[in-house]
Amino acid sequence: MCGMTEFAKNWVGLKKTTGWLTQEEANFLFNKAAETKKLNGVVAEIGTFKGRSAIVMAVGGGTKVYCIDPMLPFKLDDGQPVGSPLADFKENLLIRGVADRVELIQKTSDEAAKEWTLPIRLLFIDGNHNYEYVRRDFDNFVPHVVRGGWVALHDTVGWAGPKKVVAESWADDKVIKVGEISAVQIM
Ligand SMILES: C[S@@+](CC[C@H](N)C(=O)[O-])C[C@H]1O[C@@H](n2cnc3c(N)ncnc32)[C@H](O)[C@@H]1O
Repeated sequence: MCGMTEFAKNWVGLKKTTGWLTQEEANFLFNKAAETKKLNGVVAEIGTFKGRSAIVMAVGGGTKVYCIDPMLPFKLDDGQPVGSPLADFKENLLIRGVADRVELIQKTSDEAAKEWTLPIRLLFIDGNHNYEYVRRDFDNFVPHVVRGGWVALHDTVGWAGPKKVVAESWADDKVIKVGEISAVQIM
């Protein structure tokens, strides 16, 4: 396995979890979860689905990931049902061996925001993609991100909501773009 990164070694298994996160995007989150381990703060994500990004960050960070998602069944834009996200999420955590490192907060992000107190070292926003929701997720949770920590939003190229929030919130030259992720380090 000489020369293989830790991520690449894990990706073979990680990619089996259903989701939209690409290998390049997953690699970014994996590394950020690992790099920020020294900071005081947790890893948190809004929008978990069947756990692909949560598992990536749990493996990379080696510490707890808080997942905020109401886990309601829904249909894709083409009308396809997605099955039971909660049951698949739980099974995927067990398969990947990170069930003890992932904590589900089974609420909408608006509900979770009312009770959230923990400092965050890596925040991944990938919940409801309509502008008003992404804006609130950003405004409610980014103030909890510690200095040196990272905020990443998914679907910031092809989706109007996340794209607009990024454009409103950060100067373009501060933003790191990896696939559909836009991310900034909080200084
Ligand atoms: C694009 S999927 C997340 C994909 C996941 N990050 C992955 O890597 O597979 C969006 C998720 O956001 C969740 N969601 C929708 N509205 C939400 C809300 N108001 N608060 C939190 N999560 C929400 C949905 O239940 C769905 O599981």
